[in-house]
Amino acid sequence: MQILDGKIVSKAVKLKTKDKTELFKAAGNRAPHLAAILVGSDGASETYVASKVKNCEEVGFKSSLIRFDENINEAELIDAIKKLNTDDSVDGILVQLPLPKQIDEEKIISLINPEKDVDGFHPVSIGKMVQGLPTFIPATPYGILLMLEHYKIETSGKHAVVIGRSNIVGRPISILLSRNTYPGNCTVTVCHSRTTNLKEICLQADIIVAALGIPEFLKADMVKENAVVIDVGITRVKDDTKKSGFALKGDVDFANVAPKCSFITPVPGGVGLMTIAALLMNTFTACENKFK
Ligand code: GUN
Repeated sequence: MQILDGKIVSKAVKLKTKDKTELFKAAGNRAPHLAAILVGSDGASETYVASKVKNCEEVGFKSSLIRFDENINEAELIDAIKKLNTDDSVDGILVQLPLPKQIDEEKIISLINPEKDVDGFHPVSIGKMVQGLPTFIPATPYGILLMLEHYKIETSGKHAVVIGRSNIVGRPISILLSRNTYPGNCTVTVCHSRTTNLKEICLQADIIVAALGIPEFLKADMVKENAVVIDVGITRVKDDTKKSGFALKGDVDFANVAPKCSFITPVPGGVGLMTIAALLMNTFTACENKFK
């Protein structure tokens, strides 16, 4: 069994992005600029956004964090996005999800200029992704592809089972793994909360992507020998032994599943780190596209 190490791969991706940014700036261009919008003060969202901002600094990007109160009304948020859309100094716009319930998430996302949609959530970005056209691929699925590529994992002709059908991970990774490219060319089965024979389907999988958000859901008796297991789960569970008061748990029962796998991602230290690295790549591309 080999660990798919998000620390190693994300570091390599970030270093490449940093080098490209230095060359880009040396050629007389300004630094790529990511603007992140955070509404409210949800603990997990705070952590993610802080990490995104910190990582931007690390690779030489500019970043702006725009914060709004939990009770913001939709019109104010729309106004902020419209301003960022027309601000030439901003290359990428990211609205951290989830948004409070008075705000229509789909409406907000669809207002982002697709050229600045570094999260790849805009319907135009998704449409292009489905058609295999160049576009921004959502950061977590993109991070998974980068990881498979780094470890040269064979995907062609493999049966990939994706558990979860969210717009952020499950749906896009299922489309990406079926594309006629590398990584890709998988036969993909998408499972979800209404799937009746999940265990039998998982047992047929060469590659499993667990993205349902239930800690330690995938058990050893659901995984065939030598499978590749990608754990996208990252749930905070109470843990008094930790200084923070919580521990991060994946969707996979790692201790029991890992010995059966050919490759497996840990949590933390796996896909989560790749998400940020992929976001940085998208932001660089958004900036580069502008100056082409
Ligand atoms: N919330 C959970 N994952 C993500 C993500 O990748 N991007 C944004 N904007 N919000 C998220």
